[in-house]
Amino acid sequence: MWDVYTQEVGRIPASISNEEYRIRQSRLLSQLKPNDLIVIPNPPTSTRSNDVKYPYRCSSDMLYFCGWKDPDSLFCAYNKDGNWITALFVQPSDTLKEIWEGRRPGLEGAKNDWPVDESYSYDELNDNLSKMIRKSSRVFMRLGINPKVDEIVESEMKTQSRERQKHGFGPDSICDPSQMINELRLRKSAAEVELMRYSAKVASQAHIIAMKNTRPGIGEYQLEGLIEGFFKYSKTTGSAYPCIIGSGENATILHYTENKDICNDGEIILTDAGCEYEGYASDITRSWPANGVFSESQAEIYQLVLDSQLAGIEACKVGNSYDAPHLAAREVLAKGLIKLGVIDQELDEALSPDGDLNKWYMHNTGHWLGIDVHDVGIYKPGGEPRLLEEGMVITVEPGLYFGSWRRDVECPKKYENIGIRVEDDILITTDGPEVLSGDCPKTITNIESLIGSG
Ligand code: GLY
Ligand code: MN
Ligand code: MN
Repeated sequence: MWDVYTQEVGRIPASISNEEYRIRQSRLLSQLKPNDLIVIPNPPTSTRSNDVKYPYRCSSDMLYFCGWKDPDSLFCAYNKDGNWITALFVQPSDTLKEIWEGRRPGLEGAKNDWPVDESYSYDELNDNLSKMIRKSSRVFMRLGINPKVDEIVESEMKTQSRERQKHGFGPDSICDPSQMINELRLRKSAAEVELMRYSAKVASQAHIIAMKNTRPGIGEYQLEGLIEGFFKYSKTTGSAYPCIIGSGENATILHYTENKDICNDGEIILTDAGCEYEGYASDITRSWPANGVFSESQAEIYQLVLDSQLAGIEACKVGNSYDAPHLAAREVLAKGLIKLGVIDQELDEALSPDGDLNKWYMHNTGHWLGIDVHDVGIYKPGGEPRLLEEGMVITVEPGLYFGSWRRDVECPKKYENIGIRVEDDILITTDGPEVLSGDCPKTITNIESLIGSG
């Protein structure tokens, strides 16, 4: 076997086991009452243009509870004589369709190989789901995921509401299970952490490949090609979100995803790219000079952002508030910008909601990371800031953006068109923060020694 890429990403970790899916299911079901029904639909496919579809990505909740990835499917659980029965509705085997569209595990496959007790044909969803709804009192389902399923549930609820008038029983409410589910998804198991480690390892190496191949004149799109190629080469499903690869002025546009320009001598390239492995996202940003050497003003801003990121990571400790990294990073940035003469305010004023730090740093310092890149989990349950716990994964991603094109502020000449963000993925552990993306270099010396070395 020849190697196109020579990066090492280590062993590919095992998928989530059926035992673990069953544990996740029972953690959810143990919070429900015997007459409840839980329904987790997959979204429909969507058309890209004419007869071409967008690549299908199943619902993250579906992935979390049973790992079924194909469209036209629905996971549910109902209680029978005190026992929870889990079921999947799936596309039935159909040779003619499979010749065109690909293999289907079918009802047999679903029941034998997935973590469920029963399987049904998605073609008979209406009848069977309606029957389940009739026997339940509360239906737990997120509306808005699949309009066809919403319609079945809502129509049956309406019918049964008239029936309840006659018989005195039947379903009376649709409840949103998100809060219960999100609490479970927020804390990662050992197997999930392994998948996230792999995802972060691949994304780290992809950034290294991009750094090594950087030289003035390379296209943002070429760096994107190298990165996305490596994502696929490493058996991930590809990018977890559209890559941001912006050089010069483009680095100061937070969600620049066109990636269509040339990286010129003297510019900073900001690359925000992460992949998805078995559904689990990584999310890494690095910023580096196109010509391999930070200018004095670029180095000043880079070092300041890096120092603020290290302070943010340091704050990722069990028992700290979820926003401790944000506050720590902001303080370092504000102090640094005052020292550099960019901000002419006292520290408290600079950090206040209307303070000048917001001119150059306008986003949050992090977010939960997991099956969604901006993963689920309430930041302030009951209005109180959440405290970090072992097994949570959070990004730390401060930045500074000096866009000379902006009309709302006057950009300091010295720092014109410098856009810098440094982002890592942090696992909260009782031994302190573990940087899952720690293979990706970020000191000025390490970055400079890599650029153009490929
Ligand atoms: N890549 C999206 C983010 O950093 O939040
Ligand atoms: Mn990012
Ligand atoms: Mn992020």
